[in-house]
Amino acid sequence: MLPPDTARLRLREMTRADVDAMAALLGDPQVMAHYPAPKTRDEARAWIDWNLTNYAEHGYGLWIVETRAGEFVGDCGLTWQRVDGVRRLEVGYHVRRELQGRGYASEAAAACRDLARDVIGADELVAIIAPANVASRRVAEKIGMTREADGVGDGGRTCTVMSSKFRPPRGLAPH
Ligand SMILES: CC(C)(COP(=O)(O)OP(=O)(O)OC[C@H]1O[C@@H](n2cnc3c(N)ncnc32)[C@H](O)[C@@H]1OP(=O)(O)O)[C@@H](O)C(=O)NCCC(=O)NCCS
Repeated sequence: MLPPDTARLRLREMTRADVDAMAALLGDPQVMAHYPAPKTRDEARAWIDWNLTNYAEHGYGLWIVETRAGEFVGDCGLTWQRVDGVRRLEVGYHVRRELQGRGYASEAAAACRDLARDVIGADELVAIIAPANVASRRVAEKIGMTREADGVGDGGRTCTVMSSKFRPPRGLAPH
């Protein structure tokens, strides 16, 4: 499955042929400022392989984001992440430094939110964000998320948890 094209963007599955673009994106120290370190080419390849597994297991993952003219923008999509030991569906996004500040992350993330809510039928969607990552928090706010109590991510680091609830938790739905 894929989110539909947006006004300016299209999303598609990544393949191993995207390694150059993904290595440049995830190897950029500015794009990775809120991660432990920029990714090496091998780590970028592993990132692609992780998403190939995500597509096979779930039908979704992080997708390549391109302009409608075919220019590489970054990645955005839906993956399962653990926060406070609980698996939650997360929207994630990375945009090439040169193309930041044009609303692309918000546009792609909104399409992924709609897919999570309307096609996958998720109860909720979260964004797990390093506390200092103001741009990422703003993207989450712009797609309608609100802040929860801080959590602890898989790597043991404190994170800001933003979320949207799409329907009441199971058991609370009206009969
Ligand atoms: C987060 C990121 C994807 C945003 O991409 P983008 O395409 O520039 O985002 P948008 O253009 O949709 O902008 C979203 C909002 O963030 C704001 N913003 C962007 N950079 C900001 C900054 N450094 N400080 C404060 N606000 C910022 C924008 O002004 C915009 O808000 P506005 O419309 O109210 O003005 C991009 O900065 C990025 O790739 N960061 C590195 C990777 C990363 O941290 N990903 C998230 C991991 S949780």
